[in-house]
Amino acid sequence: MNFPLKKWLFIISAFSLFIACASRISNIPAEYASPAGTVPIPAHKQFPGNAEKGFTYLTEGDYLKSGIPVNLFKQAFLAGSGKPDLGRQGDNKGVPYDFTVITAPNGAKVGAPNCMFCHAQTWGDSVIIGLGNSLSDYSLPQQAAMAMAETALKLMNEKDRAAATNFIRAGKTTAPYLTTASKGVNIADRLTAVLAAHRDPKSFVWRNEPGLALSKEVIPTDVPAWWLLKKKNAMFYSGFGRGDFPRFLMAANLLTVTDTAEAAEVLTHFDDVLAYIYSIKPPKYPKPIDQDLASKGKPLFDKNCAKCHGKYGADENYPNLLVPLEIIKTDSALVESNFSSPQFLDWFRQSWFRTGERKADLVPFKGYIAPPLDGVWITAPYLHNGSVPNLETLLNSKTRPVYWERSFDKPEYDYEKVGWIYKEHEKQINKSTYNTTLRGYNNHGHTFGDKLNDIERKAVIEYLKTL
Ligand code: HEC
Ligand code: HEC
Repeated sequence: MNFPLKKWLFIISAFSLFIACASRISNIPAEYASPAGTVPIPAHKQFPGNAEKGFTYLTEGDYLKSGIPVNLFKQAFLAGSGKPDLGRQGDNKGVPYDFTVITAPNGAKVGAPNCMFCHAQTWGDSVIIGLGNSLSDYSLPQQAAMAMAETALKLMNEKDRAAATNFIRAGKTTAPYLTTASKGVNIADRLTAVLAAHRDPKSFVWRNEPGLALSKEVIPTDVPAWWLLKKKNAMFYSGFGRGDFPRFLMAANLLTVTDTAEAAEVLTHFDDVLAYIYSIKPPKYPKPIDQDLASKGKPLFDKNCAKCHGKYGADENYPNLLVPLEIIKTDSALVESNFSSPQFLDWFRQSWFRTGERKADLVPFKGYIAPPLDGVWITAPYLHNGSVPNLETLLNSKTRPVYWERSFDKPEYDYEKVGWIYKEHEKQINKSTYNTTLRGYNNHGHTFGDKLNDIERKAVIEYLKTL
């Protein structure tokens, strides 16, 4: 039996309302001052952990304790995946890197997707952990697959069924909410909202009827690279994930968790996972760089871009700024939609995430964080919704394609324009075509590169390759 079960899943966040205070710092030379209207994010101390243990837990750990019974799982996911197993042994030998076989609490072995389902991507023959997966496909409705899974559940022996129930229930419940207009964009924010609606905030016990109103829209996002987090004082595109990061890091557990006792046990591993994420370095640009041109790009970057994105190299700094929508002017749907609902914020504030000594916090903001640009050469497509195919068009807004198609079967990278090779179309011709006229998919805003001339732009791009 073939199970196209890969789709939904878990995770985290990016919500919004707005922030009342725009703290402005005076007495700073204009050259260094944050651009007017931007809001610096204060630091919050995170706890140390063991990166090596974090990696093992990430790739072998049971942060999901329910999944597909292993025999069925191996038939469905193993044959011909061709994906590396990350050298894992035992039950995970030969298992694609984005899935883990774990032993459920009742002793049954099950396979389930792991964080690398969204936070790793194949690149040629290798896999880059921490690179947001921009090759995923959530464009096909999953209801039929989940109905099949539910039927299969009935045929399982009792032990397997018990170990699969939470997973299949969550998959079936969330599937109708998670279809995107094109391939390559992610649904994690929406998934988190749907899971929250189906969980009691205090106990995490599943409720069949959603306790929160759920919007009809799936607002797409790209997946941010993990190696950027070590510089950031806040998580997520809107920078609204504050306080204790491990609580957000483990939010994928909401997919299958039984109760908060289980969540508390899973949380004990996440200082280590955070230490691992902090240890990841961005991959280096693999082709020759014109150092002369790049050195001309640096002062242009420092003048036009560094106030928001920070400096790199010997004079490294990162200002951790939130940039309001009025300035950044990129698609506003993400901050207006998914988590802007007062109901959702209310759910969060009452929830287990806010209990104990080390709390997570949500501080909504109507705008986006200016991300660090380390390893930016490999993180196309660009902007929070992945609406811009390469750096060249990101830095020259008039040339951004309205409908652009890239290959998902044989992804091809353009190392000069820096991003995906694409074809431009007059309309959306298939699910591999990104349609920037849809709500949430717009490619406007961030016009800071427009004032550069072509030679300057080339120099800045050459410089960006060095980060
Ligand atoms: C279904 C896809 C998916 C899965 C699975 C997933 N994530 Fe994410 N993750 C995302 C997306 C999308 C975002 C960005 C959301 C946003 O900012 O709006 C994100 C954001 C993050 C961030 C914040 C990065 C930043 O710089 O702001 C971290 C850290 C993270 N995830 C860790 C994890 C860990 C650890 C796991 C596994 C326990 C996991 N994620 C599982 C999709 C996923
Ligand atoms: C006023 C602040 C500001 C300035 C100035 C600015 N940026 Fe940005 N930049 C942002 C914000 C905010 C985002 C995220 C916007 C979004 O995702 O919607 C961003 C996104 C980006 C991204 C996309 C990152 C990704 O992985 O998707 C790149 C690349 C980038 N900027 C480069 C530059 C360059 C080069 C310059 C100078 C020519 C520049 N920026 C000037 C605020 C700024």
